[in-house]
Amino acid sequence: MKKIYIILITLSVFSQNVSGQNLLAIPDTLSGTNFSLNIYDTSKVFYSGFTTNTYGVNTNYLGPTLFLNQGDSISIQVNNQLMDTTTIHWHGLHVSAMNDGGPHTTIPPNTVWNPTFKVRDHASTYWYHPHLHMMTNLHASLGAAGLIIVRDSIEGALNLPRRYGIDDFPLVLQSKCFDAGKQIVVDNAYDSVMMVNGTIDAYLPTPAQVVRFRILNASSERVYNIGFQGNLPFYQIGTDGGLLNAPVSLTRLRIAPGERAEIVVDFSGNFGQTINLVSFASELPNAIYGATQPGMGAGQVIPGYTSNNLNGTNFNIMTFNIVGQTTSPVTTIPTTLTTNNPWAIGSANASKTLTFSPVTMGPTAIQGPFLINSTSFDMGVINYSIPFNNIEIWTLNNQSPIAHPFHIHDVQFFITEINGVAPPANMAGRKDVVLVPAGQTVKFTTKFETFCDSMSMYMYHCHMLPHEDDGMMGQFIVTCPANVGINSNVQFEKELLVYPNPANTNIIIKQPSSEMIFEIIVKDYSGKIVIFKDNIHSEEVNLDLLNQSTGIYFVEIKTSKGLIHKKISLAK
Ligand code: C2O
Ligand code: CU
Repeated sequence: MKKIYIILITLSVFSQNVSGQNLLAIPDTLSGTNFSLNIYDTSKVFYSGFTTNTYGVNTNYLGPTLFLNQGDSISIQVNNQLMDTTTIHWHGLHVSAMNDGGPHTTIPPNTVWNPTFKVRDHASTYWYHPHLHMMTNLHASLGAAGLIIVRDSIEGALNLPRRYGIDDFPLVLQSKCFDAGKQIVVDNAYDSVMMVNGTIDAYLPTPAQVVRFRILNASSERVYNIGFQGNLPFYQIGTDGGLLNAPVSLTRLRIAPGERAEIVVDFSGNFGQTINLVSFASELPNAIYGATQPGMGAGQVIPGYTSNNLNGTNFNIMTFNIVGQTTSPVTTIPTTLTTNNPWAIGSANASKTLTFSPVTMGPTAIQGPFLINSTSFDMGVINYSIPFNNIEIWTLNNQSPIAHPFHIHDVQFFITEINGVAPPANMAGRKDVVLVPAGQTVKFTTKFETFCDSMSMYMYHCHMLPHEDDGMMGQFIVTCPANVGINSNVQFEKELLVYPNPANTNIIIKQPSSEMIFEIIVKDYSGKIVIFKDNIHSEEVNLDLLNQSTGIYFVEIKTSKGLIHKKISLAK
């Protein structure tokens, strides 16, 4: 009896040490200015002999990585072929509320949503995922999510690895719960299976040189405390929404749900080695999901939490097998990256305090639901109306016994204080998610610029998806300047002039005030964009059609009062 027991122990220890059995999947890429995403019911084999139902985007698990260039005007066809309504949100991108893909912008089954917008973001790693009210966790967990990589000229001028899948690797971290039949379930606290890019127990042949990893925590709840086996140092170069001023040397990186981090690692001395990427979860302070205790006190419990082998102990995320160098490897790490310009606290026009609290006190408090300023999310309630161009200080005060990753749409922010202290250097960049520890206060400054729209909502919420689905969310509008005195669409459509029609060389669009139109898109009969205009600050806009062929054109005018369609014909 005793002998068998010892053998079993040995086997289980052994199986924990052997890692990296499956080649890491690298998501396909899409680039250009016209994108097409098809979301559909499909399946994937995660475990041999089992077919797991998934939600795919163009493929069976996790969608393609979209490459966008700052300044480009893009069009995305999001085709929902699921048997369920969904939405797709561009997490971290600065787009108008109409294009943001929040819970109000539903895409019913067998319909297409076609957001079009200009890429205004800084080079960084963003992502897309469903945002249907109360269903975000399920839809995202089933696989309907993907990365967005924005490039810009500042990042492009740096000597950084940027060959996707060669020296620049996406790492989408997710912990999952599979039921006995190997179906993905969102039974929280049983998320004991670690996967990267949808690959369980992944390894990656990695060249012995400076490589870049774009890390996304796409888990529903889990916080990772990332480091390399042997405490190999690495540099964080980017936060959620852009580059840091300079690389920050680290041996640990805490990354909460929704957050992204770009890191570079110099593997040039590690040829032939096998190096694990580890979550040093044993070092996470309590009251963070993933630590030994998920709540502030030992009495606070989540059912199943302590039996989950990823909680409170160090575990392997994946393995790097260090192989020979590529041609023209990057051999050095730049010393400076960019210049971030945080909004000065003194320039703020308003401040807000958002207090997080549990619905119930006591041992079950950490199971949620949670409230923001004592209220739960209501699709019909506008929690804040924020004046266009406001610079604001937001204070996040976590009066609940578990840490929450707070996310806001529309903007990037700069953290000014965490519990009264300036943030560490690697959190001083552009952010759209920040983990607010239990019992602590985080302050940030941000500016609500570029877009105003009195009808379309942006969200702010906890990015622990069960918390969001359970109502730990609110919404805001950015109101247009007061000189916009129009009160109905019908009236506005009358006042918005598009002429002449038919046109022969050009058309003129005239708006009642210069702040109402965000974007004008002219498409030809096949749907191809022939004109795109934004940053419109004049009352009269002239669109040149001289080089277009005769025929019918569709004019889409995105305004603070909604989307207005006009049809014009061009005759020469
Ligand atoms: Cu990543 Cu409101 O979401
Ligand atoms: Cu939360």
